[in-house]
Amino acid sequence: MDDSNTILEVSHISKTFRSKNIFGRTTSEVSAVNDVSFRLQKQRTFGIVGESGCGKSTLARLVLRLIEADGGRVMYQGHNLLALGGEELRKLRRDIQMVFQDPFSSLNPSMTLLDNVAFPLWVNGTSKQDGRIAAHRYLEAVGIPRSSAERYPQSLSGGQRQRVAIARALVLEPKIVIADEAVSALDKSIQAQALNLFHELQQDFRLSMIFISHDLHVVELMSDTVMVMYLGMVVEVASVEDVYAQPYHPYTQALFKSTPSMDVTHKKLDGFKLSGELPSPLNPPSGCRFRTRCPMAMETCAEHMPELIEVGDGHTVACHLYGEADVARRAI
Ligand SMILES: Nc1ncnc2c1ncn2[C@@H]1O[C@H](COP(=O)(O)OP(=O)(O)OP(=O)(O)O)[C@@H](O)[C@H]1O
Ligand SMILES: [Mg+2]
Repeated sequence: MDDSNTILEVSHISKTFRSKNIFGRTTSEVSAVNDVSFRLQKQRTFGIVGESGCGKSTLARLVLRLIEADGGRVMYQGHNLLALGGEELRKLRRDIQMVFQDPFSSLNPSMTLLDNVAFPLWVNGTSKQDGRIAAHRYLEAVGIPRSSAERYPQSLSGGQRQRVAIARALVLEPKIVIADEAVSALDKSIQAQALNLFHELQQDFRLSMIFISHDLHVVELMSDTVMVMYLGMVVEVASVEDVYAQPYHPYTQALFKSTPSMDVTHKKLDGFKLSGELPSPLNPPSGCRFRTRCPMAMETCAEHMPELIEVGDGHTVACHLYGEADVARRAI
């Protein structure tokens, strides 16, 4: 992978949520994100997929420092965002904006659409008038007509509200947008429109995007590279073409098998569909965290956590089924 094309590099980031009792003793620990690394390429989309609770949103929040990581680095423009503070952090963080699933959480119901979009600029010192002029531009860019600018969020449909939330994220002219289940709450037809809008905006504003979804279809439509997470860990990373043509990890294969119309044939796992609940992250399985649901599990899977190894060009997988010998054989 070409380093000069990397806009954001996340290395070995982890987060364990700890609950404490009134005496300050730790009573429970949730390993939400464990040693995750990835690179976002300029003007590309990096998709993150995995079941509910696998740590996707926590990872996004860690990158933005909405919560503090236990360790790791987030390199952006030569700085480790996790080590910065004050004005320096505020300035760089402005370049990374987030769009959430529920636009209600990011829109103020007592402000007009125009003022909702202008608000981030006002907070950053732009005058009322200039903020509103810019807000008009961004509302237009997301397809909200001028005549609707004075309406309030409650009067809009879900799809329109999400457009306003996107305008609000873009008004600060970010270089990176993190969309966390940004289209998941929308009806299928509206979802398709929202995905098209993201595509157009990405071109127009030269955005790099992290696109988070539990929906394989959405990730396939949006992403250049896909990272599959399971219980806080990365199990597979590959270009969208490679992962959809040949998923290696039994969990990735199972995700396909469990998604109607995305049934990728794989002889080792014929007939296997993902079943059973995600184990509790309070007490994750030893070794490979997927082993308790994996039909291919071996003794070693309980004893050793598999490392990510390269199985193809830029295609990595963390699974004991694929050893070094396997990789060497493929290289011949
Ligand atoms: N503030 C918190 N305190 C304690 N546990 C948390 C906290 N936030 C998240 N978790 C736990 O961390 C794990 C990962 O949660 P996260 O919200 O990141 O998953 P997700 O992949 O985004 O799921 P979803 O698809 O449902 O949005 C879950 O077990 C969740 O309960
Ligand atoms: Mg989430």
